[in-house]
Amino acid sequence: MKRHDQRHNDRHNYNAQHREHGEPEEGQRPVPKVVVVWIGILLVWGVGYYAWQIGKPMLGGDSRSVVEAPAAGADIDGGAIFSARCSACHQDNGQGVPGSFPPLVESEWLLGDPTVPVAIVHDGLQGEIEVEGTTYNGVMPAFGGQLENAEIAAVLSYVRQEWGNDAEPIEVDRVDAHEEEHGDHGAWSPDELSETFEAP
Ligand code: HEC
Repeated sequence: MKRHDQRHNDRHNYNAQHREHGEPEEGQRPVPKVVVVWIGILLVWGVGYYAWQIGKPMLGGDSRSVVEAPAAGADIDGGAIFSARCSACHQDNGQGVPGSFPPLVESEWLLGDPTVPVAIVHDGLQGEIEVEGTTYNGVMPAFGGQLENAEIAAVLSYVRQEWGNDAEPIEVDRVDAHEEEHGDHGAWSPDELSETFEAP
């Protein structure tokens, strides 16, 4: 009896085993060839891309070329500003009109310390002034409200180097500094310029 029970149980176990799914086996369903090929291609591409990038600047895949930002005012045409804003009085050749508008050519007011012409063009000038032996007593308008600081620097750099003039260009920092220190000073008089700056 005992032995019978044993067999009976065995059979039961056997049937139970049959009802279960088979143990999962590896390699039963091989990975499709296309997938293998794709993985291969991706690997080659990945490693190849990495190798290709070695030594190149890290741009995060951004292959646009780097353009250096031009210095402020570098693209401003001082000559064009002169023609539009100054030449009506000081004339195209910078010689002015004797007795009315002083010359810019060889003017010590223009070609000396940069603080002086910056003050004149930014704030204007009014009062008796002598330029190259001729006396003027007119009104030079202020351009601080009409031109950007970079434009003032550009037009001054232009007139300081045109018609044989040979003075250093004027950086926009000069105009910024003038604005900071003298705010909205009205038109200067020649005397005041001489007292405040190294004017003639
Ligand atoms: C409306 C006419 C007029 C315009 C426009 C004008 N100026 Fe003048 N400028 C004068 C007069 C007049 C004087 C002399 C003022 C005085 O007698 O005190 C003068 C004086 C000057 C001086 C100092 C004296 C000299 O001859 O060096 C400079 C520098 C100067 N101007 C530069 C400029 C520049 C740069 C511009 C253009 C951004 C300009 N001016 C536009 C009339 C003008």
